[in-house]
Amino acid sequence: MLLPPGKSAYLALFVAADLQVVPGATWTANNTGTHIQAHGGGITVADGRYYWVGEDKTNGSAFQNINCYSSTDLVQWTFVGALLSRQGSGDLGPERVVERPKVVWNQNSGQYVLFLHIDSSNYGEAKVGIATSSEVCGQYEYRGSFRPLGYQSRDMGVFVDEDGSGYLLTEDRENGLRIDALSADFLNVTFPTYVFSESIESPALVKHQGVYFIFGSHLTGWDTNDNVYATATSLSGLWSSWTNFADKGSNTYNSQTSFILPLRANTNGGGTEALYMGDRWVPDNLMRSTYIWLPLSLDADSRTARLTNTDAFPLSRDASSGQWTSELWPNKQTYQAETAWDGLRGNPRTVNCDNCDGGTAIGYIGGPDNGTVAIPNVRLPGGMQTLQIKYTNGDLDQRFADVRVGNEQEGPGGRVAFLPTGSGNNPGTSVLHLQVGDSETDGVLVGKEDSGIGNMWGPDLDSIVVAQ
Ligand SMILES: *[C@@H]1O[C@H](CO)[C@@H](O)[C@H](O)[C@H]1NC(C)=O
Ligand SMILES: *[C@@H]1O[C@H](CO)[C@@H](O)[C@H](O)[C@H]1NC(C)=O
Ligand SMILES: *[C@@H]1O[C@H](CO)[C@@H](O)[C@H](O)[C@H]1NC(C)=O
Ligand SMILES: *[C@@H]1O[C@H](CO)[C@@H](O)[C@H](O)[C@H]1NC(C)=O
Repeated sequence: MLLPPGKSAYLALFVAADLQVVPGATWTANNTGTHIQAHGGGITVADGRYYWVGEDKTNGSAFQNINCYSSTDLVQWTFVGALLSRQGSGDLGPERVVERPKVVWNQNSGQYVLFLHIDSSNYGEAKVGIATSSEVCGQYEYRGSFRPLGYQSRDMGVFVDEDGSGYLLTEDRENGLRIDALSADFLNVTFPTYVFSESIESPALVKHQGVYFIFGSHLTGWDTNDNVYATATSLSGLWSSWTNFADKGSNTYNSQTSFILPLRANTNGGGTEALYMGDRWVPDNLMRSTYIWLPLSLDADSRTARLTNTDAFPLSRDASSGQWTSELWPNKQTYQAETAWDGLRGNPRTVNCDNCDGGTAIGYIGGPDNGTVAIPNVRLPGGMQTLQIKYTNGDLDQRFADVRVGNEQEGPGGRVAFLPTGSGNNPGTSVLHLQVGDSETDGVLVGKEDSGIGNMWGPDLDSIVVAQ
């Protein structure tokens, strides 16, 4: 990944502790208290931080905003702002398709360049759009859209090689998946580098130890399929044939490729090679689509890519070597909500929940009487920890609760969002990342503290899961 001068992706970042990535969970941004809206996105490294740019689907599929979040550990995310927002008319107007945002830095102009799939609501225009900014996560100037080399262009990605040259990866419905060379300033496409005749969309490309790995999905709309990859030592080929990188029939663990983030410098040595970022779309309520991030191993010698499926995995970085690791979660402990002390506030009580542990959950959290429960004796290792909160929410909108360890107001914790879980009482998961003092055994409070939630009810609480 090409970086601005003096900015190293591998050395300048802070160290994460044992925070967990929990694929498919509600991921609450720490300063909005709501589920992250950065669908179909990608990550750009700058200024010693990670910037995640993606689509805001709060109100469904039509364009609302291209959002930017920042993080130093890839797990705790802070909303920074919108790079582009809906305008009165034109490409970014009402009822427009503005998808797959990807930001790269151009060393010749010193500008960040944002690429977008720009379309009419019936996907008839099929163009690529470009916007630029001097700040990775600032306001972008929209520069317009075009059909690259005259061809249709829908789902797209961007790749910048080690020498700074840029490539647009673009789905051309009539001819296949294209790799087109970008001009020196990245504002135009100059010549076709390679065309795969297969129909592949949502492309993402990384280079690992001299081998290019390109990933993408088949064309099945919002539904998932077994995504595939191909490899080559030159972008113009020869390319291998396309092969699965997740278990056959798993539909890529029910996700669609959006972006591959290299985690390891392009050299030999230990650590985790890459992070796979996929989307699990929920077409009838797109804002509740979740992020399937999983460890992706890349082997340059055998030219294989392999995705590991897991409920959760710690992503941590060694301070001295800068290596990221993502061993699977060794042990976890589950604490049932039904063990809660009652009467802390309000009147939380047992409710039926067919697919929850034991067939019940604790309901009536929050609400007008500020219902609050405490799960006693939760053993928390010290340091940065991730709590998984299993819950149901039968509404069409998010619910919220304040979750805290130990004393109300004083213990570590914060606001947590709970996405709708749909019909059928299948529990979902929300996560809260927090700094715990020395290893302690304490109560975990789930309820409503003060402003912001109003009289809304919180989720029905099934259990709390902690890594041990
Ligand atoms: C969110 O986390 C960042 C560090 O990742 C921190 O600087 C910021 O203060 C936090 N914001 C809130 C509202 O907790
Ligand atoms: C979603 O729609 C509501 C109601 O029209 C509006 O207030 C809100 O600003 C919209 N949000 C976004 C992100 O467009
Ligand atoms: C973009 O590149 C194409 C192909 O080289 C060229 O025909 C076109 O004029 C260029 N557009 C601009 C605005 O420079
Ligand atoms: C619930 O909390 C709100 C806001 O903090 C407060 O105004 C209200 O009086 C509380 N209600 C009860 C029944 O405690």
